[in-house]
Formats: sequence, structure tokens, C-alpha cells
Amino acid sequence: MRCESQTSQAEHEHDFLASVREGLRRQPKSIPPKYFYDTHGSHLFDLICTTPEYYPTRIEIGILERHGAEMAEMIGASCVLIELGSGSAIKTPLLLRHLSDDAVYVPIDICEPHLLHSTQRLQAMFPALTMQPLCTDYHRLPAHAFKRHAGRRQVVFFPGSTIGNCTPEGAIRLLQHAAEQVGPNGGLLIGVDCKKSPAVLNAAYNDAAGYTAAFNLNLLARMQRELGAQLDAEQFAHHAYYNEELGRIEMHLVSRCRQEIRLDRESFAFEAGETIHTENSYKYTAQEFQHLARSAGWHLQSTWRDGAGMFDVHYLSLSATEPLKLAR
Ligand code: AVI
Repeated sequence: MRCESQTSQAEHEHDFLASVREGLRRQPKSIPPKYFYDTHGSHLFDLICTTPEYYPTRIEIGILERHGAEMAEMIGASCVLIELGSGSAIKTPLLLRHLSDDAVYVPIDICEPHLLHSTQRLQAMFPALTMQPLCTDYHRLPAHAFKRHAGRRQVVFFPGSTIGNCTPEGAIRLLQHAAEQVGPNGGLLIGVDCKKSPAVLNAAYNDAAGYTAAFNLNLLARMQRELGAQLDAEQFAHHAYYNEELGRIEMHLVSRCRQEIRLDRESFAFEAGETIHTENSYKYTAQEFQHLARSAGWHLQSTWRDGAGMFDVHYLSLSATEPLKLAR
């Protein structure tokens, strides 16, 4: 199996260097979360998903197990399913098993080895389906990937509450862009983590096994490996907490002392306690998400929720004709 790649390795390294340099010049310092996902980071993310504290994966799987058939029915036969940030695609079979044999599956992910491996696994499970893996940053949503299937219903599958890693404005832009690409008959099936008790949220991003900390700190190791950054990773610590006012988990790398990072002939000074903000993970009530999606042109058709109200999966379309359903 081959996978189409939007960016060369050299372009990717250039992007990474430019983003890190720009992010470390900023005040407060920040680096975009998409750089977490090299091969090791993608593996660490899979481990996070197995921890007892990180509930979103487990709960979304339960929702897909219970309601995958209904979701596939709403999506319809002969569709093109485009999964954004597919990673290991562990939830995808729960949907693919209900699609018609002539469906096309287009997984998009930034980590090529991970993308190839998971697509090969899925192709072996569903030999009749056509699979067209695409290695790119899903924010770019390349138009040609959609254009070549014009005439079929195209549905964007965006599980895992990855939309929460965008700011609300960024989420609207991404969903607007998705709406333009799928065309008037298109759909969006999206997983969204709900607002809940800070204790549950804080535990989910501070697992006892330390995988989330390793995932966060891997960004520094990656800067050393790929960009030749000179830094002492031991002098940084993982910090994640729920910012209730903004409705988001914030992840930071906190400098344990006064120090500097050297990168490409530039030096970036840190005070003790100063942080690099590495990720936001916004949480939404169903109403908040519906409002956000509406601003991007999407109409809610159906919501599936677990019994404890921890996580929602929504199906949205670009026309408001069908009645709204809520299933548990
Ligand atoms: C991929 N994304 C939805 C995860 C999240 O929950 O925001 C990434 C993650 N970061 C720390 N743990 C998991």
C-alpha cells in the first residue's frame, strides 16, 4: 500500500523549525500540538488512550459500538468517509463494518508510518473497501482529495474530540473549510468531549503511569533529535490543568530553573516557572458545540451520548431538513 504525501520530509522539518522558533520568540511561549505526533509521540498517545484516567477513547468506543449502525445509516450507502487525524484508527472499524462495500475510506494523518500501518490493518479487515491514505496536516484539507469523489456523499469523520485542540475560532474555520470541501450533500460525524468536573478532567491529563507527561516532554526530545536544539529536557516538567473559565485543559512544559534553549544560532531565555504552552483541549456542552458548528454552516441532525453524559458524538449536515435526535 502506498500513501499520498502532501509535504516532503524537508518541508516538514522546515515547518517544524519555523513554528518552534516563532513560538519560542512569543510571550507567553507556545508550540502547536501537531508536533507531538512523530512516531514515538503517536505511540505515546495510543498508550494514553489505554489508561484508566483518559476516559474519552473508552467512552467514544462504547458509543460507536452501540450506535455505529445508526450512524452509518445516516451517512448512507456508497459514501466517501474522510477521517481527520486518523492515527491508529482504532475506532474506525466500528463504523466501517456498517458501510456498504463500495464505500471509500480516506484517512488523513500527519505521521506517515502510523498512517500506513493503520490503513494496512483496516484494509485487511475490510478488503472490499477502497482506501486512499493521505499524509498531511488535516488543517490543510486538500481540495483534490474531495474533488476526485465529487458526485458521492462525502462525510468527514473527526472522532476523539480532536476539534478541542483548536481554539473555538480555529474550530469554526476548520469546520467551515470542511463544509466547503464536502459540498451541499456532505456530512460531519464528530466526537466532542463534554464539560465535566475539573477533578475528572485533571486526572485524564495527569495519568498515574506518566504517559501524558512523556507525550508532552517528547516535544523537547523531538526538538533535540530533529532540529539539533540544545536544551536540558530534565529541567522541564509536564503541567496540565483545567482552566474552568476558558473551558479548556491547558498543557505546558514548565521550566524548573532559569535556563536557555539554543536553536539554530538563537537563544531563548526561560525564567524558573516560565512555561511553553503546548496544547489546549477545549470541552463543550452540546449547546455550545451546536452553536459553534452552526457558525460554520453545519446543522445538527443527531447526537449520541453515553449514559453519564461524558462525551457526545454528533452527526451534522449542511441542510436543516431532518429532525433532531438525541440517543443514549
Ligand atoms: C488528540 N487530542 C484530542 C487529545 C486531547 O485529549 O486533547 C490529545 C491529548 N493530549 C493529552 N492527552 C491527550
